[in-house]
Amino acid sequence: MKNTVITFQKAKEEGIKISMLTAYDCPTARLIDEAGVNSILVGDSLGNAILGYKDTLSVTMEDMIHHGAAVARGTENALLVIDMPFMSYQSSVYDAVVNAGRLVKEAGANAVKLEGGASVCPQIKAIVEAGIPVVAHLGLTPQSVNVLGGFKAQGKDEKTARKLLDDAKAVEAAGAFAVVLECVPSKLARLVTQSLSIPTIGIGSGSGCDGQVLVSLDMLGVFAGASPKFVKKYAGMGKLMKNAFAAYHKEVQSGEFPSNEHEFAISDELIERLY
Ligand code: KIV
Repeated sequence: MKNTVITFQKAKEEGIKISMLTAYDCPTARLIDEAGVNSILVGDSLGNAILGYKDTLSVTMEDMIHHGAAVARGTENALLVIDMPFMSYQSSVYDAVVNAGRLVKEAGANAVKLEGGASVCPQIKAIVEAGIPVVAHLGLTPQSVNVLGGFKAQGKDEKTARKLLDDAKAVEAAGAFAVVLECVPSKLARLVTQSLSIPTIGIGSGSGCDGQVLVSLDMLGVFAGASPKFVKKYAGMGKLMKNAFAAYHKEVQSGEFPSNEHEFAISDELIERLY
C-alpha cells in the first residue's frame, strides 16, 4: 500500500512509529521500498554521502533532480520526500514554489523537505498552497553549518530550546505535515513531539519522536571510521564491499576469473576456419 501524508497523520494519531531512510539511487530505493520502510528521503546528504563534498552547501537542484528521479524509479510504496537544496528556497517564496514544483514534476517527489523554522514559514505556506506537501527540518540544520559553527546538537540551553519549540509550532501552523528533528536533546524532542499534532521524525533525537530517519550508508556501515553517536550500524557493508573488490582484483591478476562458467562458447571448427 502506498504511504501518503494520510499514513503519516494516522500513524501519529494511533501511536505507530514511522520509518524513513535516505536513498540516492534506484537499486537502493527498490531494496528499501521492498523492505517495507514507510518513507524514502533523497536527502541533500547526497553532497557528503555520495558526491564527496565536505557538507551539503554545494548540492544543486540538478543534483537533486538527477538522483531524485533515479530513486523515484525504484520506489513504489514508500512516500518519496526530496530535499530542497541550499539556496533553492531561502532566496524567495517565488523560488521556493518554483523549485518545489520542479522536484515534483521532474523528479517525482511526493513531498519536499526544507530546513528552518519561523523564517521559512512563508515558503512552507506557499508550497503547501501550491499542492505540494512539506516536511520541515529543525535542530541541526546542515545548510546553516556556517551560522551554527559546526555539526553539533541544538537546543541545549533555555533560549534555543524555547526557539526550537516555537519554530516547531510555527512550521505546523504554516502547513508542514511532518518535521524532522536532527540532533535535538531527547527530552526536548519528546516535548516537541507531544506539543504537535503532526509527526516528528528524529535523527539523533531519541525514542520520543513519532518516527526515525537514518542515512542509509551510515546504517549499512559503508563508511570506515567513527560515525555519529546516534547511528546504529545494522550491517558492515563497507568491509564486505572492500573484501569483494580485493578478491576480484586478486583473481583477475591470477587468472582465476573469469573461468569457463563465465564464458560464451563457439565451436572449435568455426574458430579454426578463422585462422
Ligand atoms: O539530508 C539528509 O539526509 C537529511 C537527513 C539527515 C534527515 O536531511
